[in-house]
Amino acid sequence: MHSTDAPALDPQQLRAALSAKIESLGTFRTAAVRDAFRVVPREVFLPGVDLATAYAPKQVVTKRAADGTAVSSASSPNIVAKMLEQLDVRPGHRILEIGSATGINAALLSELTEPSGSVVTVELDEDLADGARTNLAAAGYNQVQVICGDGALGDPSGGTFDRIIVTAGAWDISAAWWQQLAVGGRIVVPLRLHGSGLTRSLALDHTDNGLMISTNAVVCGFVPMRGASEMGERHVRLAEDIILKVDVDDLPDEGALSPALAYPAHRQWTGIEVRHNEPAAHLDLWLATVESGLSFGKLAVAASARDLGLADPALRWSGAAVYNGGTFAYLTVRRVDDDTDELGIVTHGPDINKISGQAGDLLRRWAQDRPAQPVVTAYPSTTRVGQLQPGTYVARPDTRLTIGW
Ligand SMILES: C[S@@+](CC[C@H](N)C(=O)[O-])C[C@H]1O[C@@H](n2cnc3c(N)ncnc32)[C@H](O)[C@@H]1O
Repeated sequence: MHSTDAPALDPQQLRAALSAKIESLGTFRTAAVRDAFRVVPREVFLPGVDLATAYAPKQVVTKRAADGTAVSSASSPNIVAKMLEQLDVRPGHRILEIGSATGINAALLSELTEPSGSVVTVELDEDLADGARTNLAAAGYNQVQVICGDGALGDPSGGTFDRIIVTAGAWDISAAWWQQLAVGGRIVVPLRLHGSGLTRSLALDHTDNGLMISTNAVVCGFVPMRGASEMGERHVRLAEDIILKVDVDDLPDEGALSPALAYPAHRQWTGIEVRHNEPAAHLDLWLATVESGLSFGKLAVAASARDLGLADPALRWSGAAVYNGGTFAYLTVRRVDDDTDELGIVTHGPDINKISGQAGDLLRRWAQDRPAQPVVTAYPSTTRVGQLQPGTYVARPDTRLTIGW
């Protein structure tokens, strides 16, 4: 007889395997970030979670609201690693983290900044802040300071930091972050750049002329920040399991849009090919920011609706769509070969010919230059519009942004 029990999992081996997985994705740029992942014991920060789940290369939700939506999690290890590489922490840095959750990222930051640096982490919910404190102490990171409060206010003691990292979806660069980030310092923040929820983790450098500039944006999705800086989303329901997320500033005609899906689909293939390894991740942001006469939205399609064949937006650009009046068009793809897809457009609504033509022209414009990275410049909210760089203009309560290509 032989035992059918699975062999016991060893945290050390699981850590090595997770690091190897992140390495295989090409995420690590520095030995420091890779080494931090090799030593921080995830299982101590995820008590009650089985080892296999704690070390799986995906997000672990640790707290939900009454309606089931996730409010806190240990973020996906790969995006955590990407953001730590964006942050460029050096030993000795003073670091502020917003959104402690389990404390895992604060422990990684502590590894990167030791022996002479410091980490302060702010969490909105008391139970989570207590949990982070307990976990950090249990893993031997007593030097990390956990504060319970609204991270939009930063560190209420008013210190300044070489690095700030925000780990919840932010709508604004708050006045406190402007004040508390040292000139020459860097803030990494998952910033919602459009009301549809389109978010990029930006690495913004605080320049000595009082701006913040990012030339490095990473695709990500985060639970939204709650508290004083919270923002709502506007959704237009197109079918039981399909919504179009829009920006209210675009003044969408929701009454005209909601029956659009009832019009038959018009599918158009563009001949534009995109290789899987091509840096085309920001095509959706480009569609959201270029002058085109079309508004941008994101189509969210539940698996049940996909299975029924109601809509099949390209996963790579998570439902990127454009609309005007009561007609919308979304990006789709079809396989050319193992490494390449062709872009297509599916249009629904009363104005199919016009909107699919405009969407096709837009994609051909994108295909000419295929810009890989946006340049995002942030200005204090007191800056006059005439003083801004050319580019798409985005206004937030404490910040003005321009997005250029
Ligand atoms: C995705 S989790 C953070 C992930 C985490 N840093 C890690 O180590 O994996 C986002 C956290 O931000 C917290 N949060 C949301 N709004 C906040 C706010 N205004 N101030 C501080 N924390 C906030 C949530 O409660 C949640 O714990």
